[in-house]
This record gives sequence, C-alpha cells and structure tokens, in this order.
Amino acid sequence: MKALILVGGFGTRLRPLTLSVPKPLVEFANKPMILHQIEALKAIGVTEVVLAINYQPEVMLNFLKEFEAKLGIKIVCSQETEPMGTAGPLALAKDKLLDGSGEPFFVLNSDVISDYPFKEMIAFHKSHGGEASLLVTKVDEPSKYGVVVMEESTGQVERFVEKPKLFVGNKINAGIYLLSPSVLDRIELRPTSIEKEIFPKIAAENKLFAMVLPGFWMDIGQPRDYVTGLRLYLESLRKKFPVKLESGPHIVGNVLVDETANIGEGCLIGPDVSIGPGCVVESGVRLSRCTVMRGVRIKKHACVSSSIIGWHSTVGQWARVENMTILGEDVHVGDEVYSNGGVVLPHKEIKSSILKPEIVM
Ligand code: GDD
Ligand code: MG
Repeated sequence: MKALILVGGFGTRLRPLTLSVPKPLVEFANKPMILHQIEALKAIGVTEVVLAINYQPEVMLNFLKEFEAKLGIKIVCSQETEPMGTAGPLALAKDKLLDGSGEPFFVLNSDVISDYPFKEMIAFHKSHGGEASLLVTKVDEPSKYGVVVMEESTGQVERFVEKPKLFVGNKINAGIYLLSPSVLDRIELRPTSIEKEIFPKIAAENKLFAMVLPGFWMDIGQPRDYVTGLRLYLESLRKKFPVKLESGPHIVGNVLVDETANIGEGCLIGPDVSIGPGCVVESGVRLSRCTVMRGVRIKKHACVSSSIIGWHSTVGQWARVENMTILGEDVHVGDEVYSNGGVVLPHKEIKSSILKPEIVM
C-alpha cells in the first residue's frame, strides 16, 4: 500500500522555526512531525511514501534517507516546479501512486497530529464502497478548516465547504484521506485545491464518506496549536505508553525528556513539556507547557511557560519566558530578561525585556 504526504508550503505560520528547517522536519515531542506520520503508516503496512514537495527537497531527502533504512520503508519525492495546491500534487505523482493493484492510497496533510487510525479507515473505506474516505473531528472554531456536513449513520458527505465564512457545522476535515485510484481521473495537472474543487464534486455524486476520528487531533502548523497539540499528544502517550513519560518528585503531569538531556537539582518541570536531546536544564528551573528543542541550555532559576525554545538557544539565569514566546534557532536570552510573547528570529541576542508580543528581527 502507498501513501502521499503533502509537504509543500513555506510554513510561514510556524516561523521562526521554519526559517531553519522545512515545517515537516520541525520536531514535535522530540521527533520531526513527518516521522510521526511515516512511522504510523509503516505500522499498518504502507511500503512506499511519496513526499509531494515544492520547497527545499534536498533538505528533506537527505534527512529522510537515514530513516528509509531504519524504518524499512521506501521514501520518494515528487517535486513541483510551482505550488500545485493540495490536489495538483496527486496528478503530478500519478505514476508513483498507481501500481496496478487497484488498492486505495492514503493522502495526508503534513502538519496534522493524531493517533492516525489508518486501520479503521481501511475497513471503513471497504464498507461504504465510495471513492474517497476522510477523517473528521469536532472543533470549536470550524471557520479555519474545511467543514463537512454528513449523514451521521452512513458517513455519507452531503457538503464539503473549505474555510466557510458562515457557520455550516462543527465537524471538520482532519487532513487524512484514503482515496481510490479513480479519484486521480478527476484531477488535472495544474494547481488545484482538493478541498475546493475535488471533494465538493465527489460529494455531489454521493461518493465521499467521512468517519469521525477516534482520539485526539490537532493541526500543529501554528505555535498556539502546536503547544495545545503537545498537551493532547502527551495525554494520549500517558494512556498508551506511560513508561515513555518522565516521573519523579520534580515532575508535574506529562513530561517527555530525551535520555541525553540533563536536568539539574531542584527543578520543577511540567505539565506538558518536551525536552530534546543534549539539553541542559540547570538547577532551580521551572518549565511548564513548553517545548525545548535539541541542544538548548536553560540557566539557573529561569522560568519558561507556554513557549517554544528553538534549537541550541540559551535562556539566561532568572529570565522569564512566557505567553507564546517562540525563540528561533540559536537565540540567546540574557540573564533576568523577561519575554512576553516575543517571536525571535534565529541567531539573535536578547539583552532587554520584550514587554508585549512582537517580532524581534
Ligand atoms: N506539495 C504541496 N504543494 N503541498 C502543499 C501545497 C502545494 O502547493 N500547498 C499546501 N500544501 C500542503 C501543506 O504543507 C499542508 O501539509 C497541507 O498541504 C495543507 O495545507 P495547509 O496550508 O496546512 O492548509 P490548512 O491547514 O489551512 O487547511 C487544510 O488542513 C485543515 C486541517 O488541518 C485543509 O485541508 C482543511 O480542509 C483542513 O481542515
Ligand atoms: Mg495546516
């Protein structure tokens, strides 16, 4: 079985992290986003993943080469010369997706995190006999997603409306599809939106079906959602593999710490924190609801909450970093500095406090 991951786009909403690496390679819970997906695909028997890409393909491929062997899965690139949207890349990769077996294939947005119920989707797809299956989930703010109106008992989709201005419903497209090869006959080789141009047509022919996603889901393509996504992910990990989570008197709630990270005396860490490889957290540090990426040093008595600390950055002693502060790669926050929602570009040194949310260039 095959799968295609939509990897294109510049990941602007996740800057400054995406100034250093393409969005799918930004770590989430100590693992590049895309690896969560590739591993889950491999686990249900997918043998080949096509990355539909229009930006920095070398970086992605070099990185993933290592995992091809480790995971035992084939990873190929389908590169666009212009952005082809969310359907155009399927037409471009047609030959790579069709293997004559007539089997359906998976298509994934690269920035969605969940328990990936691929097995259940395969069974669902077989049961309804339509052309396309998608996962839906309920959210409070449906307007920033694709909204699905469906017949509850059969899952048949009556309407698919991308980013509706008026309220249509609260079940939204989770960005995870299982498509029969015939869907490829509907897509021309040009920039096309699967959400605006393809799904509405399949729905009109009563061949689009949706399944409500069991478990958690989040689009982690924006900082606030990324931080929320980490909370949901760790909560799910607590149920499935509690041994992967840290425990001890200095830990509160769900915390993930890489085994090569070093935590000092008298810290209080959690809830909802991930600490990457090689990090040094000095004594008396307080961390909550945050991601600390590879190679970061948090100095004595600093306090970090609701923030993302990019690779190889440092946070000074007694510094306070909070309220969706996002530090790019190799940023240095001085001792006693306060950051309230600062978004700091890579390689900067912050010597004075950032009192209100702003971008520091
Ligand atoms: N190859 C390629 N080429 N990929 C692209 C392109 C392109 O031109 N444009 C976007 N993508 C990829 C993105 O990298 C992402 O993985 C996926 O397509 C969806 O694009 P986003 O920019 O993240 O869209 P969104 O989050 O606003 O909305 C989409 O996701 C929602 C769920 O998170 C839609 O599918 C919505 O219907 C859905 O609810
Ligand atoms: Mg998205």
